[in-house]
Order: sequence, then structure tokens, then C-alpha cells
Amino acid sequence: MKAIIIVLLLCLLAFFFTISTAIDTISATKSLKDGESIVSPGGIFELGFFSPGRSKNRYLGIWYKKVGTGTVVWVANRDVPLKDSSGVLQFSRQGILSLVNKDKIAIWSSNSSITATSPVAQLLDTGNLVVKNEEDNEPENYLWQSFDYPGDTLLPGMKYGVNFVTGLNRGLTSWKSDDDPSEGDYINKLDPNGLPQFFLEKGLAKQFRSGPWNGLRFSGMPNLKPNGIYTYEFVFTQEEVYYTYNLVSSSVVSRLVLIPNGNLQRYTWIDRTKDWKLYLTAQIDDCDRYATCGAYGRCNIDNSPACGCLEGFVPKSPEEWYSGDWSNGCIRKAPLECMEGEGFRRYTGIKLPDTSLSWYNKTMNLKVCEQACLKNCSCTAYANLDIREGGSGCILWFKELFDVRQYADSSQDIYIRMAKSDLGNTVHSRQQDSTDELIRNEDLHLFGFNVIVEATNNFSNDNKLGQGGFGPVYKGKLKDGQEIAVKRLSKNSRQGLDEFKNEVFCIAKLQHRNLVKLLDEKQSVLVDWPKRFHIINGIARGLLYLHQDSRLRIVHRDLKASNVLLDQEMNPKISDFGMARGFRGDETEANTSRVVGTYGYMSPEYTIDGIFSLKSDVFSFGVLVPEIVSGKKNRGFRHAHHKLNLLGHAWMLHKEGKSLELIDKFVKDSCNEAQALRSIHVALLCVQRSPGDRPSMSNVVLMLSSEIALPTPKEPGFFTERHLSDTDSSSTKHEQPSTINRVTITVLEAR
Ligand SMILES: *[C@@H]1O[C@H](CO)[C@@H](O)[C@H](O)[C@H]1NC(C)=O
Ligand SMILES: *[C@@H]1O[C@H](CO)[C@@H](O)[C@H](O)[C@H]1NC(C)=O
Ligand SMILES: *[C@@H]1O[C@H](CO)[C@@H](O)[C@H](O)[C@H]1NC(C)=O
Ligand SMILES: *[C@@H]1O[C@H](CO)[C@@H](O)[C@H](O)[C@H]1NC(C)=O
Ligand SMILES: *[C@@H]1O[C@H](CO)[C@@H](O)[C@H](O)[C@H]1NC(C)=O
Repeated sequence: MKAIIIVLLLCLLAFFFTISTAIDTISATKSLKDGESIVSPGGIFELGFFSPGRSKNRYLGIWYKKVGTGTVVWVANRDVPLKDSSGVLQFSRQGILSLVNKDKIAIWSSNSSITATSPVAQLLDTGNLVVKNEEDNEPENYLWQSFDYPGDTLLPGMKYGVNFVTGLNRGLTSWKSDDDPSEGDYINKLDPNGLPQFFLEKGLAKQFRSGPWNGLRFSGMPNLKPNGIYTYEFVFTQEEVYYTYNLVSSSVVSRLVLIPNGNLQRYTWIDRTKDWKLYLTAQIDDCDRYATCGAYGRCNIDNSPACGCLEGFVPKSPEEWYSGDWSNGCIRKAPLECMEGEGFRRYTGIKLPDTSLSWYNKTMNLKVCEQACLKNCSCTAYANLDIREGGSGCILWFKELFDVRQYADSSQDIYIRMAKSDLGNTVHSRQQDSTDELIRNEDLHLFGFNVIVEATNNFSNDNKLGQGGFGPVYKGKLKDGQEIAVKRLSKNSRQGLDEFKNEVFCIAKLQHRNLVKLLDEKQSVLVDWPKRFHIINGIARGLLYLHQDSRLRIVHRDLKASNVLLDQEMNPKISDFGMARGFRGDETEANTSRVVGTYGYMSPEYTIDGIFSLKSDVFSFGVLVPEIVSGKKNRGFRHAHHKLNLLGHAWMLHKEGKSLELIDKFVKDSCNEAQALRSIHVALLCVQRSPGDRPSMSNVVLMLSSEIALPTPKEPGFFTERHLSDTDSSSTKHEQPSTINRVTITVLEAR
């Protein structure tokens, strides 16, 4: 009986407690006591008193109300905790918002310089606590706002950076621990010196550098990519420079937080699991440790050891360097003497060196930039400031270059000054004037015809790997043992010289690990599940690279199993760019009267209306995946009980919850069923009839590699297509449409 009474009493208390919290602003006459809270108008955020983790201290803070189970995003008195529940948030007589303790001493205040006559404090749905004059809702006129004084969390809409007019630098400071919101060891903030970049610092020691903004992202944060969760921008004007992001939809909540161990991490709220999920981290690996390879060193995480000297440089203290202490970095083989003949060596796929001491101009082009660097003897390197649309702007470096790393798939170039003797023939020097942007000799390795004749044994039939619609492909071996594939343009080919050049250009430009460099080795047919999943992911990333990360946005238009090459490590390479089309940044789809491609892989809108877009490649990808999973071809797929193609079959199985039946019997043993099901599910999303329903490749990559919930696919486009003419309008005429040939996931089908 006693117990019941107590429970009742508690319920009543809780009830009164709720009633008493129902205020939404603080004013001169209305203060906020511990135990009370105010809630933003839409019920998104709440402001009140709390004790973090196991701590007994009381803090005034803001937390998520709807989601996040009380995740705190801002703390007022983080360094001055209240030891009891006597805290009151109120306006002082001067109109300043103050947190006072039991002795009525202000332990924290919104120190606005302007005092107000009728100030109110209101918590907005953005999580911003603002102090303003009662009737004035203009953000510019806010007297104070918590967004100007972030703690460890960057919320959507916050400006993360410097206001040159007010001198305000809004940085993030980690908590000491989950139980203690006081200022921890790490600060991540913008450094406005030179070309602005973000630095993570521990005490005075630099830990991580974002690199400067290159128009698309921070040069050292390649995983900051367009996505379905948030949009972002970097604003850089005379008045201010900052990074900011906004949520695409209010239904997906995301925050960026500097956690106590110094990692800058983005979390998204997963409603299904009622938990925050780590979405990405700023520092990825050891190469992100600031200047880990010293001056003129270059960190490449794919190498072992990761540190190396840039070409033309050697370790400064070889003994230390080779024992793994890279801090002394590298020095030039030949010192610069500022003489005629000095020039620049281009390095691609680079995280630009520290720009704190650099000079920049937003409008100069690369040519003028090169001249400017050449003219000044202390200039050591130059680069474009913005890499979009072929590049613009100019950055000059005058000192040693620090904190350079190599990325496998980044389109950032830098040109480093070299003495004449250290320049190969890949030179940018005063004498050289040819700036044919499309194909520079340095991009291409040219072979004499006689070399090719020799390598392929005079194009002997024994060396023939396959026959494309545009000509035969031969295997060859160069004198140094390097194996090559040679595509020979046949005289009566439908592929013109333009298409051929296009392909060569694409391959040369796209120095990406997933793209064929015309080097290939035929591989065996049987590939276990982990390798197949590796291949699926590799193709997805390769396609993402074409669509998004390469300088041109490229639609491949003829993605299919036979255009995916595999190297020894089973890394897939997308090949055959004969049909590829580059898009300018603003184009999203185009029209063609000449539909080229391969039936079975082509999307409905492309086959029927000739309209192709990035989403037609997504469709082709969605056809490839079930092929890889099942080891069968989409076209020519036969089933005892229905007339559907492989896509249709996959769709039926998916609807019946029997997708596992699709999996190739040869990989059953090695199969990770969750991965296989996810792959099939993603594939079905890719082949939906309407291009708008299909995910972008960046979403595909994300969906394959994470556990985010997947939407339900709609019916695929084309799942019975037997009625289509069997005339194959593709570049390969050799797929046998009516046989169930196992997909040799390798390519270049030998004949
Ligand atoms: C407000 O306080 C911050 C730090 O607590 C300080 O940097 C800033 O100068 C103060 N602003 C004014 C107007 O007093
Ligand atoms: C930047 O370059 C442009 C064009 O080359 C020039 O007109 C301008 O004066 C330069 N700005 C600065 C600050 O040097
Ligand atoms: C070279 O650039 C540096 C840094 O901007 C500058 O201080 C110096 O005067 C320049 N020298 C010449 C010869 O222009
Ligand atoms: C290669 O073959 C062509 C035609 O088959 C022939 O004319 C030519 O002499 C051969 N060249 C060599 C180097 O064997
Ligand atoms: C494609 O061409 C057709 C007719 O030539 C035209 O009606 C249609 O609007 C075009 N579509 C695009 C995306 O250009």
C-alpha cells in the first residue's frame, strides 16, 4: 500500500513538474530556475539545467528534445559548474542575460555590449538561444546568440569560422569527458592566416589540418561529399569566412561534434534504433596527423611506410628517416638558385600543403599564377585555388611545404618548383608554352607503332582477347615484361577517331584506381563472395568518381560486365570509354539521336527516348549487381517458371522475401548474407523505372557501406524484355543472348 502511494505521489509530482515548465521565453519579469525549462516553438530543442553523465554538477544547457534522448548541444557555464540546484537564469538590470548562483553572483552572462530596454531570450527551433529586443525578430539585430559561442557541437545553420568585422572566431572545443563539459584538450577552429583552413589543436600543437577550401570541399577532407543528409557551403568574403551546413530534410537529424579524444565526427540520428550513428570522421588515418612526414614529405596511406619524399627530394637526415622518424622531412636533390631553366613539376591527387603562410588571388588563372611564382625567387609552389570547371584562382607558397598527402582519387594538382637538373621531360618551364588543356604529353604515354607490333606479335590471332564493335583487342607484352591490352581501331569501325580519342583521353585523365589503364590480366571465373562484394563496391566507387569527382562529369553510357576489367587483386576497372560523354557542371541530362549501349543494361528512358543522364549509368550498375551476385547474365536469363529476365527474377524474389535464392551456388559457402541482400536491395533501387527514383552513385556507395535503412524499391524498368529485337546495338556483338553463359566477371571475353 505504501509503495502504491509513493508511486502515485511521484506521478503527481511529475505532472506538476511538466505544468510548471510551460514557458517559452525568458524576459525581465520571467526567469528560469533549475527544474524548469523552455522549449523551442516546434518542440525541437529544450533549454534548462542538467547534470552530464555521472556528474552531480548542474549546468545550464540546450539539448535535443524530440530525438537524441537528451543529447546536449550547448552549455552556458561549462567551466563554472553549479554545485547545487539553486541556479537561476535571468536578465540583469542592464538587460544582460545572466546565470546566477545561490549568492546571486553571476557565474555566466551573455556579454552583449549593447544593452536593451525590453530584452527577451528565446530558444529557436535551430537550437540557437537568442537575446533580442522583444519585438525585433531580425537576426542581424540579435543582441546575443549562442550560435556565436559554440561548445563542442556544430549545429545546422551555425557559421563555423571568422567574422573579420567583429573579430569573432567561432570554434569548437571538446568536452573534458562525457561527464564534464568544461573545456577539454582539443580545439578545432578556422585559421584565417594565409588561405583559411581549419586546424585541430591540442594545446599549441597542431594535430590535423582540413586544408584550404578548393571549391568543392576542403583539400584534406575527401570524404566531405554531396549526400542525401546535408548540404554544405564555404563562404569567403571580405567580411567573413565560414563553413556551414544545413539538413536536407527535417526528418534526418545530424550534428558535427568534437569529441573528447579530439575526433571531429558527424552523427546522424537513426529513428529505428533510437541512436546516433557515426556518419563520418574528419581524420581518417595516420596520414592525417599534421605534418607527419615533415617538410616536402608526402604521406600515402597505401604505401608502407606511409611517408616518402616528393619526387626530386631526398630525406634530410637519412638515418632517422629510414628508422621511421620522419620529422626532419626532405630536402631538394638540387637546390634552387633562381636561375633560367627552373620550372615546375606537377603532382596530382594531392592534399595541398599548409597554406597559413601562402598568398592567394581568387581571379588569377593558372598560367598567370605560374608566371607570378616563377618571377619571385622565394616562391616554391603554386596551384589553383578553386578546382571547379577546369580550375581558377592562384595560391603561391613561399616556404617549405608541409603536411602533403597523396590521395588515390582526388583531382587536386600542385606545381612544385624544381631546379633545371631535377626536371624530367614532364616540365612546365618558361620555354614551354603548350597548354593544350585536354591532352598534354605528360598525361599520355605514347608508344611507337613498331613497339605495339612487337608486343602483340604483329597483332597475331593468338593474342586476340576479344572483339569490340569498334575493333579487336589484343593482349601484348612490352619488352620490360609489362602486360598491355591494345585496342586496334578497325578501318570499317563505327567508332570514329573522335570516339577513340575520347576513350584515350578519358583513360589518361582518370588516373583512378578503379579505371583501366589498359593493363589487364584475364582472371579465373570463380570468385568468392568477399571478392564479389569488393568488386561491387569498387564499380560503385569508380562510377561515383566518373559522375562526381573527376574534373569532367562523365556518363559512361555502356557500363556492363564486359566493360569491367579486374586486376590481379580483383580490383574492378571500368573500361571502354568509347561512348562516354562529359557533362558540364550544370548539365544533368542530354539527348541523343544515336542510342549506343547494350540492351539489357540500358535504362528505359535511354533506350526509348534517347535521354541519358547520370541515372542511366545508375540503372546499368543496378543490372550488373544481380549479375555479379547470381553469376548469370541479365539478358538471356532463363527460368523454368517464368519469362522474366534476371532483373525481373530478382524483383520477384525480393517481393517474396526470397532474395537469398538469387545468390550463385558457387558463393553460398563464402557468402555474407546481409551484404548480399543489401547489394540486391540497392540494385533494385537503381533499376527503378523513373530516373528520379534512382539513387545517385554517392548514395549507392553510402548504402552499400553502411547500415542505413533502405527505401522500398518500386518495380524495375524493363523486366520482361524478350520482345526486344535481338539485334545488339552495342559495341560488343558477342554476347550470346539465348544461352545462360556464366558471367565471366572478367572482361574482354576471349573468343
Ligand atoms: C564575451 O565573452 C567572450 C569570452 O567569454 C570574450 O571573448 C568577448 O570578448 C566578450 N565580448 C564582450 C562584448 O564583452
Ligand atoms: C588578382 O589578379 C587580378 C587579375 O590577374 C588582378 O587584377 C588583381 O589586382 C589581383 N589582386 C591582388 C590582390 O593582387
Ligand atoms: C616574393 O614574395 C614575397 C612574399 O609575398 C614578398 O615578400 C617578396 O617581396 C617577393 N619578392 C619579389 C622579388 O617580388
Ligand atoms: C605484319 O603483318 C602484316 C599483314 O599481315 C604484314 O604486311 C607485315 O609485313 C607484318 N609485319 C611484321 C613486322 O611482321
Ligand atoms: C530531346 O529532344 C526532343 C526532340 O528532339 C525534345 O522534345 C526534348 O525536349 C529533348 N529533351 C532534352 C532533355 O533535351
